[in-house]
Formats: sequence, C-alpha cells, structure tokens
Amino acid sequence: MNILITGGAGFIGQNLTYSLLKRGFKIRILDNFSPQIHVIRDLPDDLVDQVELIRADVRDRAALIQALADIDGIVHLAAETGTAQSMYQIAHYNDVNSQATAQLMDVLANAPHSIKKIVLASSRSIYGEGAYDCKVHGIVYPGARSAVQLKSHQWDPVCPHCGDVITAIPTPEVARPSPASIYAATKYAQEDLIRIAGDSLGIGTTILRFQNVYGAGQSLNNPYTGILSIFSTRIRRGMSLPIFEDGQESRDFVHVSDVVCAIELALLNDAANGGTFNVGAGEPTSVLQIANMLVDALGGKVRPGVTAQYRLGDIRHCYADLSEIRTKLKFEPQISLIKGIEAFASWVLSQPLPEDGLDKANEELKKRKMMS
Ligand SMILES: NC(=O)c1ccc[n+]([C@@H]2O[C@H](COP(=O)([O-])OP(=O)(O)OC[C@H]3O[C@@H](n4cnc5c(N)ncnc54)[C@H](O)[C@@H]3O)[C@@H](O)[C@H]2O)c1
Ligand SMILES: [Zn+2]
Repeated sequence: MNILITGGAGFIGQNLTYSLLKRGFKIRILDNFSPQIHVIRDLPDDLVDQVELIRADVRDRAALIQALADIDGIVHLAAETGTAQSMYQIAHYNDVNSQATAQLMDVLANAPHSIKKIVLASSRSIYGEGAYDCKVHGIVYPGARSAVQLKSHQWDPVCPHCGDVITAIPTPEVARPSPASIYAATKYAQEDLIRIAGDSLGIGTTILRFQNVYGAGQSLNNPYTGILSIFSTRIRRGMSLPIFEDGQESRDFVHVSDVVCAIELALLNDAANGGTFNVGAGEPTSVLQIANMLVDALGGKVRPGVTAQYRLGDIRHCYADLSEIRTKLKFEPQISLIKGIEAFASWVLSQPLPEDGLDKANEELKKRKMMS
C-alpha cells in the first residue's frame, strides 16, 4: 500500500512514518514545515532516503493533486493546532484545517484517483466539556463555562438541569459535539467533510478523536499547544510552572505510540470504515499531577504553583470512553503514564533547550482579554 501522510513531518506524522515503514509501506509526506512548529525545516536524516517528500502547503491544489498520484490510503494530519491561537487567527485556522480538507475531498470528487481509505486525526476538543454524571439527571453534557463563572473561580461545571454538583465520567463518541474553540470547530468541520464526501465517493473513512497526545518528537517550540512541551522547557530553565485554575482540571494523556497503533488499526481494518473512535488512555490526570510528575522525571527544582489564572475556551475535564475502539478495533493502550513520562523526559533532555514562549503567548491572550 502507498500511504500519503499530510503533516507527516510533524509529531504524530513522524512517529507514524517510522512505524509504517517498518511494516513495509511506501510513504509519501506532504508538509510545509510550518515555522511555528519546526526549527529544523527538514526530515530527520534517517527518513530522508526512505520517504518521498512533497514540501508544500496542504492548501495548494496542484501540490495535492501531485501528492495523490498512485496513493491507496491517506492519513490526514496537517493542521494548525493551537486552541487559544485559533481564537484570533480565525480565518487562517479555517483555511488550513477546514477549507484545505474541503479541497482534498473536492479533488477526489473531480479527478480519477486510487484512494480507498482516509483516516482523519480529529480531536476530543470537538466535545467541549466531556460527559458528567448528575445524581438526579444521570449523564449530562454541560456547556462551556461562562466568563462570569470563571471570574468567580467556580471552576467546576454544574448540572445544566438542576445546577447541582456533577462528576466527570468517560466521554463516549455519541456525546453531543459542542466545540468551545475555533480550533475545535475546524476539527469538527473536517469530520463532516471527510465522512460525508467519503460516503458519497465510496471511499472508506475513519475518524479518530485523539485526547492529549504526548511523547518523543512533539514540537518543543510551538508555544500555543502541547502542555508537556511547554512545561518541560520551563522546568529545564528553572522557571516557575504556572498552573491555571486550581490545578484539578484534568486531561487524558495518551502516548504517541498508542496513537500510532490506533491509526494503523483504523487504516488497515475494514471494520473501521465509517467509524468514529476515541483514542486516549481512558484515564483522567489532573494538570497539577502531570506537572509534578514531569518535574520529578526531569529532576527539576521548582514545584508547580497554582495561579488561579484561566483562559476562555479551556475545558475543565474530558477523558475518553474507549469501549467502541476496544470492541471494534481491539485497541488497548499499552504505555502507562509513568513509563511514558519517563521516556518523554529522557527524550526532552537529549534535545537542545528551546526558548520559553509561554509568557509571550499568555501576554498576547491577556491583551485580547482571553485570559485573566
Ligand atoms: N498532539 C495532540 O495532542 C493532538 C490531539 C488531538 C488531535 N491532534 C491532531 O493530530 C494532527 C497532528 O498533530 P501533531 O500533534 O502531530 O501536530 P504537529 O504540529 O506536530 O504536526 C502538524 C504538521 O502539519 C504541518 N502543517 C501545518 N500546517 C500545514 C500546511 N498549511 N500545509 C502543510 N503542512 C502543514 C506542520 O508543518 C507539521 O509538520 C493534527 O491534525 C491535530 O489536530 C493532535
Ligand atoms: Zn441535575
């Protein structure tokens, strides 16, 4: 099989490329080496001879047509990924994420091609807040927390029906999508475009909603995304680690090798066609807890400090219900958080020490009244 990976030079893309090459696939990468993500605007030496690289923007129709020649399957990863940044680069995020995906499907609809399968990297962000349990109303899906609520430091969402305390539970794929950021809205748009056009063109499609992916190879330079990257640079520099809200907000951290497994299962398994699957570790970890784990793993001296700052559009909790992907694709996460963080930390320490970009990114948000 010949596989096209858009955004294949990025974090998940490179990890996937190594794995698919080992399995004997031919890989073509289309990537523009976006400067916000890449300091070295090239593939690693050991990939250069093994993959075909098209250095182009995913929005470039002619390059896309060239990239699709003789390809059997596409893994569509190219995207802008900064949640907060998306709130003021609205047209750009729509262009790169939604419009470029529309164009990909438009090319497939209007020219002969050999594509049998498309796997889309979507995101848990399309859910907004995850699923919660109310003692009276059962499973509920609270909306985004209001600016007023956040201002009064009422961090936890409440039951949308009775206003009572609710507890986060695993979020299933059938949860009502409720994107709380422009990034999330563009990921949701990608899902619809690929699913609807794929169906009508007779192309098998699978949508994977990744939780927070971490691991070796993640960009250490993009200040707009990747909490573990951002924290690791500050820990290495001996800087303070500002933890938003009360530190009890949680995420589902999944190791990139588990994500690569899920993509391969989706790509190679007909049972995945037409499916939408969560990909995560299936367990919540608070931001304060992960920050402490990372300080320990990197041998840092400064403990994280809770600041009670907050950003509009951030969710409180979301973690994956993995029932669907376990049953249909036999997916099981393999890397425990403790092992994964240790491996991530030793990789980080082998990398050049990047500049810290967090303060500047946060200043930008404050100026725009998107952070307090
Ligand atoms: N990493 C996560 O935690 C996570 C979580 C949910 C979803 N995802 C999704 O997974 C996909 C891959 O994410 P990643 O973590 O590997 O990100 P990444 O930023 O490391 O990789 C993205 C790649 O896309 C390329 N790219 C960006 N804009 C492009 C353009 N206009 N034209 C061509 N190439 C372009 C970049 O150069 C980069 O190599 C994205 O679609 C993202 O939305 C990631
Ligand atoms: Zn209730």
